[in-house]
Amino acid sequence: MAQELTVAMPKGRIFQDAAKLLRQAGIQLPADFENSRKLIISAENCSMKFILAKPVDVPTYVEYGGADIGIAGKDVLMEAESDVYEVLDLGISACHLAVAGLPDAAKRSSAYKVATKYPKTAARYFREQGEQVEVITLNGSIELAPLIGLADCIVDIVSTGRTLKENGLVEKEKISDITSRLIVNPVSYRLKKADIDQLIGKLTEVVKENLNGMDQKSGVEVLK
Ligand code: PRP
Repeated sequence: MAQELTVAMPKGRIFQDAAKLLRQAGIQLPADFENSRKLIISAENCSMKFILAKPVDVPTYVEYGGADIGIAGKDVLMEAESDVYEVLDLGISACHLAVAGLPDAAKRSSAYKVATKYPKTAARYFREQGEQVEVITLNGSIELAPLIGLADCIVDIVSTGRTLKENGLVEKEKISDITSRLIVNPVSYRLKKADIDQLIGKLTEVVKENLNGMDQKSGVEVLK
């Protein structure tokens, strides 16, 4: 690649899946990529540099040009509403966003309280349902809120469903499916179009291969 690309990677639950995808696309990452404490790491066979950021900050790095490209969960993107191009569904780290609460939770009223780390998304969802609720923003362990009476329900990510189950909560409504996406800074896309398109092309192939692999394993036929 002629020009160096800076890629913002989300530390945490998406990281392993994202690193695997990059390796599948032929990008040689150092052997300790997943375990290093370094925050800036270069690829070994191409002109790419990776910055390791908190997932919620990835859209910010890309929007402001700190990175040309980023990998971010759709949940984070829906909340951030950043001025970035979302160019590819990477199909990794699948989960969904849902409303959950205690099985016998009260019916919704105007005093209904919703705890979440996605305040904008939650407010938008209930507004679209024509319901007025009070949104309480927390930064983690959201499931605690209905257990200790801070909120009537939560809006949060459900992956395996284990956190809900182990805390005696149930899913009430699914809001949307979530996967990780490739995002691009609009100015970078103009200035480094050939290199970025080449990367998008490689990753698109990998995503297709992975999807085919999944179909064969499950025996499910997917419309292409
Ligand atoms: C996320 C999410 C749920 C949990 C869901 O939290 O907020 O709490 O994972 O996963 P599960 O369905 O597989 O149990 P995370 O682990 O990111 O930590 P947090 O509570 O600090 O947000």
